Amino acid sequence: MLSRLARSAVGHDEEIARFEDARALCSLPVVRREVARFLAHSPIAVGQDVADDAVLCADELITNSLVHTASRVISLNVCVRTSSKRGAVVRVVVGDEDRRRPGRGASCKSELSTRGRGLPLLTALSQWGCRRCSHGKDVWFECPRPAAQE
Ligand SMILES: Nc1ncnc2c1ncn2[C@@H]1O[C@H](COP(=O)(O)OP(=O)(O)O)[C@@H](O)[C@H]1O
Ligand SMILES: [Mg+2]
Repeated sequence: MLSRLARSAVGHDEEIARFEDARALCSLPVVRREVARFLAHSPIAVGQDVADDAVLCADELITNSLVHTASRVISLNVCVRTSSKRGAVVRVVVGDEDRRRPGRGASCKSELSTRGRGLPLLTALSQWGCRRCSHGKDVWFECPRPAAQE
Protein backbone atom coordinates (compact mmCIF):
# COMPACT_ATOMS: atom_id res chain seq x y z
CA MET A 1 0.00 0.00 0.00
CA LEU A 2 2.71 2.45 0.94
CA SER A 3 6.41 1.87 0.60
CA ARG A 4 8.31 3.01 3.63
CA LEU A 5 11.92 3.89 3.01
CA ALA A 6 14.71 3.18 5.46
CA ARG A 7 15.02 5.63 8.30
CA SER A 8 18.00 7.87 7.88
CA ALA A 9 20.34 7.89 10.84
CA VAL A 10 21.46 11.43 10.09
CA GLY A 11 19.53 14.48 11.25
CA HIS A 12 16.34 12.65 12.25
CA ASP A 13 15.19 13.14 8.69
CA GLU A 14 13.09 10.59 6.92
CA GLU A 15 11.27 10.15 3.71
CA ILE A 16 8.26 8.53 5.25
CA ALA A 17 6.49 7.53 2.13
CA ARG A 18 6.59 7.66 -1.60
CA PHE A 19 3.27 6.77 -3.15
CA GLU A 20 3.68 5.27 -6.59
CA ASP A 21 0.47 5.46 -8.62
CA ALA A 22 -0.73 7.68 -5.81
CA ARG A 23 -4.40 7.76 -6.72
CA ALA A 24 -4.73 4.04 -6.32
CA LEU A 25 -2.33 3.52 -3.45
CA CYS A 26 -2.58 6.48 -1.12
CA SER A 27 -4.43 5.86 2.10
CA LEU A 28 -4.92 8.92 4.27
CA PRO A 29 -5.44 7.01 7.54
CA VAL A 30 -2.10 5.29 6.90
CA VAL A 31 -0.44 8.66 6.20
CA ARG A 32 -1.77 10.08 9.47
CA ARG A 33 -0.70 7.02 11.43
CA GLU A 34 2.81 6.97 9.94
CA VAL A 35 3.45 10.67 10.58
CA ALA A 36 2.12 10.38 14.15
CA ARG A 37 4.25 7.29 14.77
CA PHE A 38 7.38 8.93 13.37
CA LEU A 39 6.90 11.98 15.58
CA ALA A 40 6.13 9.91 18.66
CA HIS A 41 9.42 8.02 18.21
CA SER A 42 11.59 10.99 17.30
CA PRO A 43 14.75 11.29 19.41
CA ILE A 44 13.89 14.99 19.68
CA ALA A 45 10.77 15.16 21.85
CA VAL A 46 7.84 16.71 19.97
CA GLY A 47 4.96 18.15 22.01
CA GLN A 48 1.58 16.49 21.45
CA ASP A 49 -0.06 19.72 20.24
CA VAL A 50 2.67 20.27 17.65
CA ALA A 51 2.49 16.63 16.55
CA ASP A 52 -1.31 16.81 16.19
CA ASP A 53 -1.06 20.00 14.10
CA ALA A 54 1.63 18.46 11.89
CA VAL A 55 -0.46 15.34 11.26
CA LEU A 56 -3.46 17.49 10.31
CA CYS A 57 -1.43 19.72 7.96
CA ALA A 58 0.29 16.71 6.32
CA ASP A 59 -3.13 15.19 5.71
CA GLU A 60 -4.32 18.43 4.05
CA LEU A 61 -1.29 18.59 1.74
CA ILE A 62 -1.48 14.96 0.65
CA THR A 63 -5.22 15.38 0.09
CA ASN A 64 -4.53 18.43 -2.08
CA SER A 65 -1.96 16.59 -4.17
CA LEU A 66 -4.45 13.77 -4.67
CA VAL A 67 -7.47 15.94 -5.40
CA HIS A 68 -5.96 18.83 -7.36
CA THR A 69 -3.20 17.14 -9.39
CA ALA A 70 -2.85 14.11 -11.62
CA SER A 71 0.43 13.05 -10.01
CA ARG A 72 1.38 9.41 -10.24
CA VAL A 73 4.00 9.85 -7.53
CA ILE A 74 3.50 11.84 -4.33
CA SER A 75 6.29 11.96 -1.77
CA LEU A 76 6.10 12.73 1.93
CA ASN A 77 9.18 13.75 3.88
CA VAL A 78 9.22 14.54 7.58
CA CYS A 79 12.00 15.84 9.76
CA VAL A 80 12.35 17.16 13.29
CA ARG A 81 14.96 19.66 14.34
CA THR A 82 15.60 21.81 17.38
CA SER A 83 15.26 25.56 17.20
CA SER A 84 16.49 27.80 19.99
CA LYS A 85 13.29 29.87 19.86
CA ARG A 86 10.65 27.27 18.97
CA GLY A 87 11.97 24.07 20.55
CA ALA A 88 11.22 20.96 18.48
CA VAL A 89 10.23 22.00 14.95
CA VAL A 90 8.50 19.56 12.61
CA ARG A 91 9.11 20.13 8.90
CA VAL A 92 7.03 18.23 6.36
CA VAL A 93 7.50 18.32 2.59
CA VAL A 94 4.92 16.91 0.18
CA GLY A 95 6.10 16.60 -3.40
CA ASP A 96 3.84 16.17 -6.41
CA GLU A 97 4.23 16.32 -10.18
CA ASP A 98 2.20 19.46 -10.90
CA ARG A 99 4.03 22.78 -11.17
CA ARG A 100 0.97 24.86 -10.26
CA ARG A 101 1.20 26.45 -6.85
CA PRO A 102 -1.53 25.87 -4.27
CA GLY A 103 -3.94 28.68 -3.59
CA ARG A 104 -5.29 29.73 -6.94
CA GLY A 105 -8.49 27.74 -6.93
CA ALA A 106 -11.62 27.58 -4.86
CA SER A 107 -11.77 29.85 -1.87
CA CYS A 108 -13.90 29.51 1.19
CA LYS A 109 -16.70 31.86 0.09
CA SER A 110 -19.42 31.08 2.59
CA GLU A 111 -19.54 29.87 6.14
CA LEU A 112 -21.14 26.61 5.02
CA SER A 113 -18.69 25.89 2.23
CA THR A 114 -16.55 22.80 2.74
CA ARG A 115 -14.08 23.88 0.04
CA GLY A 116 -11.07 26.10 0.41
CA ARG A 117 -10.42 25.45 4.08
CA GLY A 118 -7.16 23.50 3.78
CA LEU A 119 -4.73 26.35 3.09
CA PRO A 120 -6.26 28.73 5.68
CA LEU A 121 -5.92 25.90 8.19
CA LEU A 122 -2.27 25.46 7.17
CA THR A 123 -1.68 29.19 7.57
CA ALA A 124 -3.26 29.15 11.03
CA LEU A 125 -1.22 26.19 12.28
CA SER A 126 2.10 26.46 10.46
CA GLN A 127 4.48 28.43 8.33
CA TRP A 128 4.28 27.04 4.80
CA GLY A 129 5.46 27.60 1.27
CA CYS A 130 5.94 26.06 -2.13
CA ARG A 131 9.01 25.52 -4.29
CA ARG A 132 8.96 24.39 -7.89
CA CYS A 133 11.49 21.69 -8.70
CA SER A 134 12.39 19.12 -11.34
CA HIS A 135 9.60 16.67 -10.42
CA GLY A 136 6.93 19.41 -10.19
CA LYS A 137 6.78 21.11 -6.81
CA ASP A 138 7.39 20.63 -3.12
CA VAL A 139 4.93 22.14 -0.67
CA TRP A 140 6.45 22.43 2.80
CA PHE A 141 5.30 23.48 6.23
CA GLU A 142 6.80 23.86 9.67
CA CYS A 143 5.02 23.53 13.03
CA PRO A 144 4.91 25.40 15.29
CA ARG A 145 4.68 28.75 13.53
CA PRO A 146 7.56 31.09 14.36
CA ALA A 147 6.73 33.95 16.69
CA ALA A 148 6.07 37.24 14.84
CA GLN A 149 9.46 38.73 15.74
CA GLU A 150 11.44 35.66 14.55
N1 LIG B 1 -0.99 20.48 -4.64
C1 LIG B 1 -1.70 21.38 -5.34
N2 LIG B 1 -1.46 21.58 -6.66
C2 LIG B 1 -2.15 22.50 -7.37
N3 LIG B 1 -3.13 23.27 -6.87
C3 LIG B 1 -3.42 23.12 -5.56
C4 LIG B 1 -2.73 22.18 -4.73
N4 LIG B 1 -3.23 22.28 -3.47
C5 LIG B 1 -4.19 23.21 -3.52
N5 LIG B 1 -4.32 23.72 -4.76
C6 LIG B 1 -5.25 24.79 -5.19
O1 LIG B 1 -5.47 25.62 -4.07
C7 LIG B 1 -6.87 25.67 -3.80
C8 LIG B 1 -7.11 25.84 -2.31
O2 LIG B 1 -6.75 24.64 -1.60
P1 LIG B 1 -7.48 24.30 -0.23
O3 LIG B 1 -7.46 25.52 0.64
O4 LIG B 1 -6.86 23.06 0.33
O5 LIG B 1 -9.00 24.07 -0.61
P2 LIG B 1 -9.72 22.84 -1.34
O6 LIG B 1 -8.73 21.69 -1.41
O7 LIG B 1 -10.90 22.53 -0.46
O8 LIG B 1 -10.11 23.34 -2.70
C9 LIG B 1 -7.43 24.42 -4.40
O9 LIG B 1 -8.80 24.56 -4.72
C10 LIG B 1 -6.58 24.20 -5.62
O10 LIG B 1 -7.06 24.95 -6.70
MG1 LIG C 1 -7.61 21.07 0.23
